Amino acid sequence: MAWFLSNIRYVAWTAVAVAALLLIYFAMGVAGYAFGDSAFWEASLRWGHVLVGIMWIGHLYYFNFTQIPNMPKIPDEQKPAVAKVIAPAALYWFRWGAMATLITGLLLAWNQGYLAQALALGLLDGVPKHTLIGLGMWMAIIMWFNVWFIIWPNQQKALNIDNKYPDLDAAAKAAAGKTAMLFSRTNTFLSVPMLVAMTGASTLF
Ligand code: HEM
Repeated sequence: MAWFLSNIRYVAWTAVAVAALLLIYFAMGVAGYAFGDSAFWEASLRWGHVLVGIMWIGHLYYFNFTQIPNMPKIPDEQKPAVAKVIAPAALYWFRWGAMATLITGLLLAWNQGYLAQALALGLLDGVPKHTLIGLGMWMAIIMWFNVWFIIWPNQQKALNIDNKYPDLDAAAKAAAGKTAMLFSRTNTFLSVPMLVAMTGASTLF
């Protein structure tokens, strides 16, 4: 068993396969939905959306609750282990998790037929569910924008990821790191009310 659990690729892909079988069994075998039914795709998308959302927000919370507060406690000569190895790897899963969450979230709204109504915050049809999920979607879209267009480019500068900015001086690196941190903190803040909308929309309405 250790040979299996020691390999994250085996664990991750097997877990996805087991989850897919579970979903297909309950959706088709028990509930009786067909492959083409929108309920089957809604269940699949909800699962995929929450899964990749965890990948994104899990890394956001890792940065904000674990890495950033503890960096000052690490001796300078050991800091590159985090800055050069851990942080770039975490940023990879963080930004692609954000992309996958956005795509599955938009598909989920489209699948349920309310994408435009929610993006218009319910103003087109006066439906409270669309106002609530629309607020959550906009908060999460702002968070996604911050990840891809502010946090990631600034982290590339601050950490000189892939040696893209070899000539940047220490002050410019520090300024980029500070900008990335402030927007990461903003996303941490937004994530809490955003989840009220995500989790409450189909419960309350
Ligand atoms: C990036 C933009 C995002 C969009 C466009 C989006 C869109 C949606 C939509 C349309 C729903 C279905 C709501 C309903 O009808 O019940 C939903 C549910 C949900 N979303 Fe998002 N979302 C986004 C980001 C996130 C993030 C970052 C998380 C964090 C984990 C998240 C977690 C959830 C959860 C937990 C649900 C509830 C699933 C359920 O109750 O079945 N979403 N989202």
